[in-house]
Amino acid sequence: MIEIRAERPHHAENIERLLDTVFGEGRRSKAVYSLRNGVSPIEELCHVALVDGELHGAIRFWPIQAVSTGTQRRIQLLLLGPLAVDPVFQGAGIGRALVEYSLILAGWRGHRAAVLVGDPAYYSRFHFDRAGARELKLPGEADQERLLLREIVRGAAADCQGTLVSASAEMPGLMRYP
Ligand SMILES: CC(C)(COP(=O)(O)OP(=O)(O)OC[C@H]1O[C@@H](n2cnc3c(N)ncnc32)[C@H](O)[C@@H]1OP(=O)(O)O)[C@@H](O)C(=O)NCCC(=O)NCCS
Repeated sequence: MIEIRAERPHHAENIERLLDTVFGEGRRSKAVYSLRNGVSPIEELCHVALVDGELHGAIRFWPIQAVSTGTQRRIQLLLLGPLAVDPVFQGAGIGRALVEYSLILAGWRGHRAAVLVGDPAYYSRFHFDRAGARELKLPGEADQERLLLREIVRGAAADCQGTLVSASAEMPGLMRYP
């Protein structure tokens, strides 16, 4: 049986092992990790996939901001990732379930747009695209074409531009779902 559950502290070790398997141990040197270092993930959006009680998939979300070059205006965004599914269980819909379920919750909790660094061929099915992220820059990322955006609220990222920086998990003004 496959289940999607909220991530809990006791899952952390297995998640790290899964990420090493899927992305390799060099994953921490990727530019996107600079947006995660020293920041806690958004607990209420992080989920794991359990197959017969064992962890074989995970998704995490982080608070980030786009800082406009000229005006220094800051737009709150979600960073999706990492998303990983154990190779043994890939192709069974676990990735889709983790992304779709988490993004529905994100909308309920007042998040307005999400970005990620990933493969457009995979993430286009969830309406992430390059067009929305054209005016965003992730410092240190060699392939900015992998920077993708999806609006959760239509129009929320219409004029979204600037440099992506990490942010505090406290996002003032967010609507909270009871
Ligand atoms: C990408 C990943 C999270 C998808 O999880 P999953 O549980 O296998 O995905 P699902 O079962 O929901 O979807 C499978 C579909 O995604 C497709 N897919 C998987 N990786 C893909 C990729 N990199 N590009 C395009 N399509 C991809 C499969 O071909 C399959 O297509 P189909 O539905 O037409 O048969 C998982 O395969 C994984 O962890 N891969 C290793 C990391 C990786 O390659 N990441 C790439 C995105 S950054």
